[in-house]
Amino acid sequence: EILNKYLFDEKAYDYHDAAYKALVVPKTKVHSLRIPKILEADKIQGDTIYYTIRAQTGETQILDGKPTATWGYDASVLGPLIKFVSGKHYHLTLINNLPEVTTWHWHGLDIPGPIEDGGPHAPVRPGEKKEIEFDINQQTMTAWLHPHPCPHTAEQVWHGLAAPVAVINPADNLPQIPHDWGIDDIPIIFQDRTFHDNQLDYQSDYDMDGTLGDTALVNGTANAEFTVTRPWLRLRVLNGANRRELRLNSNDNITMTQIASDGGFLPHAVPLTKLMLTCAERAELLLDFSSYKTGDQVVLKADDTPILRLKVGDFTEDNRSQLPATLKQIERGFTGGATHKVVMAGMDDSVRINDKLYDMTRIDDQQVMGKNEIWDVSNTNDDMPGMGMIHPFHMHGMSFLVLSRNGHDPYPNEFGFKDTIGVNPGEHVRLLVRFSVPGIFMYHCHILEHEDTGMMAQIEVIDPAHPIHWDLKDLCEK
Ligand code: C2O
Ligand code: CU
Ligand code: CU
Repeated sequence: EILNKYLFDEKAYDYHDAAYKALVVPKTKVHSLRIPKILEADKIQGDTIYYTIRAQTGETQILDGKPTATWGYDASVLGPLIKFVSGKHYHLTLINNLPEVTTWHWHGLDIPGPIEDGGPHAPVRPGEKKEIEFDINQQTMTAWLHPHPCPHTAEQVWHGLAAPVAVINPADNLPQIPHDWGIDDIPIIFQDRTFHDNQLDYQSDYDMDGTLGDTALVNGTANAEFTVTRPWLRLRVLNGANRRELRLNSNDNITMTQIASDGGFLPHAVPLTKLMLTCAERAELLLDFSSYKTGDQVVLKADDTPILRLKVGDFTEDNRSQLPATLKQIERGFTGGATHKVVMAGMDDSVRINDKLYDMTRIDDQQVMGKNEIWDVSNTNDDMPGMGMIHPFHMHGMSFLVLSRNGHDPYPNEFGFKDTIGVNPGEHVRLLVRFSVPGIFMYHCHILEHEDTGMMAQIEVIDPAHPIHWDLKDLCEK
């Protein structure tokens, strides 16, 4: 059975908001889809891999005419694919060549916080260089890197800071799934921006409820086109927008088989023709072009606006194979009581988590490492009829399982691990949370302007064998 509708509550969609900006097709020529290069290691010493990642300013040809001033990681905009292999140790050199403080946040990686994780407690000042080290121990998945300085995350992402991350774990990897980067395995980093004489102007477009742009970009490409040269195409879709919900569909309703969510493979593939991702959610989709002919095209759209044309070229080889009936064995059973409660409320300057605004020096919750616990997350943003909005709830430091939505099963494509979940107004979702690394971690709404306003809190994850005393005041002043 093929899912052919979006699963969230239509009445809460972003387009009902009075400040909503519809996407328009940019008046520029067609550009071939930008494919991030793969970050090369500085060196490899046994099981330790050394990477250097610079945050820098640059110029990018996005529209016709003048290039746009943008920011990126080792690139003028966005950044390279950063690959991690589970079981290896990584040594990262982070260099800030920007005119302001930034951080490197590894959204989706199970690494200790708050320094390695790269939240607001891990600033790297302009001109500064910092080194971090961590082990990667997690399943195969697609994550991403973005800045997280409080309260400038939204603006820095708007300027172009975001990069794709892929974790490969030989133990659960499915080698029959296409993995030739840029050929049959491509990122779809969806974002929206408004251009003013070809330039970005965050202040003038700023919206406290989430900044929207009228131009859709895929991997920083406007009016993007990609030539399909093998029948199976793997799309690693990330909604990298500050606020916009991505409702992905296509002109001819091609079946998109979802094989993975934020945190890795789903237990079973979910075929669909329409997919909604809230901010920061990811999905890996497999598209089968074997019944198409050279010259055919499939147009991917966000709502009704074309964002990427997939042009069928001559197939150079047949990369199809059989998907296993079970992609991944996932144990969902849990008996126990709810221990953590998160209430997301408000819009604009009234946004709160558990009635509070974020405070870097306050620990809002605690959990012991290695323990399964329940998190009940609700969105009370339904007080004004028809005015509620969906808040994408994100947690750092691990991937969770979604046990239920309002007491019912989660959506069919939510049976795998996730780190971000869109919560409808008036809804509570029940999450199974287990941390495997210690430290201080953020949890927040991933509408970036809500996060910057303070719709964020933090948890201390305790390793009883190695307790750490965190002096958060001191960290903040460093
Ligand atoms: Cu994607 Cu706190 O972040
Ligand atoms: Cu994160
Ligand atoms: Cu929000």
